Amino acid sequence: MNTVLVIAINWILRARQRGQADGRIAAAQSTAYNTTLLRVRRSERSDQLGGRARAGVEITGGQAVSSKALIAAACAVLALAAAPAQAIDWGKVKGKDITLFYPAQMSWEMVLTQAEHSGAGKFREGKDCRGCHEGEEKASGNLLVNDTSVEATPIKDKPGSVVMTVKTARDAERLYVQVAFNPGTQPDAGMDKEFPTKVAVMIDDGKVAEAGRAGCWAACHDNLTRMPSAAEGKETTKYLVRSRAAVSRKGGEELKPAAEIDKMRADGAFLEYWQARLKPGAPAVAADGTVLEKRIERMTPLVAAEASEAGGMWTVTFSRPLNAGDLSKPFAPGKTYTVGFSVHAGHAAQRFHYVSLEKTLVLDSGKADFVAAQQ
Ligand code: HEC
Repeated sequence: MNTVLVIAINWILRARQRGQADGRIAAAQSTAYNTTLLRVRRSERSDQLGGRARAGVEITGGQAVSSKALIAAACAVLALAAAPAQAIDWGKVKGKDITLFYPAQMSWEMVLTQAEHSGAGKFREGKDCRGCHEGEEKASGNLLVNDTSVEATPIKDKPGSVVMTVKTARDAERLYVQVAFNPGTQPDAGMDKEFPTKVAVMIDDGKVAEAGRAGCWAACHDNLTRMPSAAEGKETTKYLVRSRAAVSRKGGEELKPAAEIDKMRADGAFLEYWQARLKPGAPAVAADGTVLEKRIERMTPLVAAEASEAGGMWTVTFSRPLNAGDLSKPFAPGKTYTVGFSVHAGHAAQRFHYVSLEKTLVLDSGKADFVAAQQ
């Protein structure tokens, strides 16, 4: 099984290079799949996987790693990190709406398993997740949020999706990403006592091929905390397959040697994430970090976040220096970045969030979902 999955993953990465152009055309032409059929599939699945219920919810924080290098890098850009989002005239920027949906416990390993996800084969052949799922996010979220075959502990009355308006811009020094969303009426999940709402952006610059194809799913594994194959009593945060000695349907526990992982990190083969933790009436708390063998949060974030709330609608502006140094993605025109978005709402934590499909970002001009034009 392990070998099969490792082979499959390698194959996928090669197939991407081969089939990207064709895949995109095919994706544009593909008709949306039939939601009624999905419901049937879902209920079949619930029979197969009926025994997966897991114990109650506990909350564990992220792992904060203190390293002199990180602190030094953070200090170097501290002055810039405080730069104001008002530098941008947002009235000039056209927003684009995307829908974030509740993914339940559908891990990377699950969506790659044909018997559990009929898109697996076509994904291997080179069709990206969005090629089949774009436009279906709301329906998928409504299905998954209550589907006990893939959600062991549904949160009663939780909405299935959240719409987000995204704007991007840049100036000579910084990249700005502004998101506006209203999570609507949310039940209180009681997991994150302090912050009712959190919003995050995941970023890759082409160094993590599977992120370009599957966005956030590249980091979502079956053995993460509160996922179906989580090891009892062990906290496992997001990671990339390349950091593991082997990966099976249950994800991978054993890490590759540290020297190999450090080499990957030095080569930029990690994801970067930004997060804003939100509470009405309080300034946003910014956090950021990287994902490779685990999620590593910076002691002092490179990203700045400013937020305001009115009538339930949050507007959050992230900004970061274009070149913030080590362990952050350099932003430059002419390159296509993959971005994914997530929202935790109703005091939810860990996997109980809404996520977007993989989206693209360019600076200045080009073909992408979001173009960060210079101001
Ligand atoms: C070739 C089209 C195709 C591709 C590519 C594809 N899927 Fe699917 N996906 C489907 C179909 C069809 C279903 C419903 C039937 C099933 O579950 O097998 C589905 C179901 C799902 C569901 C459950 C929600 C729902 O609406 O049923 C999720 C979540 C999902 N896919 C995620 C992904 C992710 C993540 C990727 C990329 C790694 C991906 N899919 C790639 C076709 C696809």
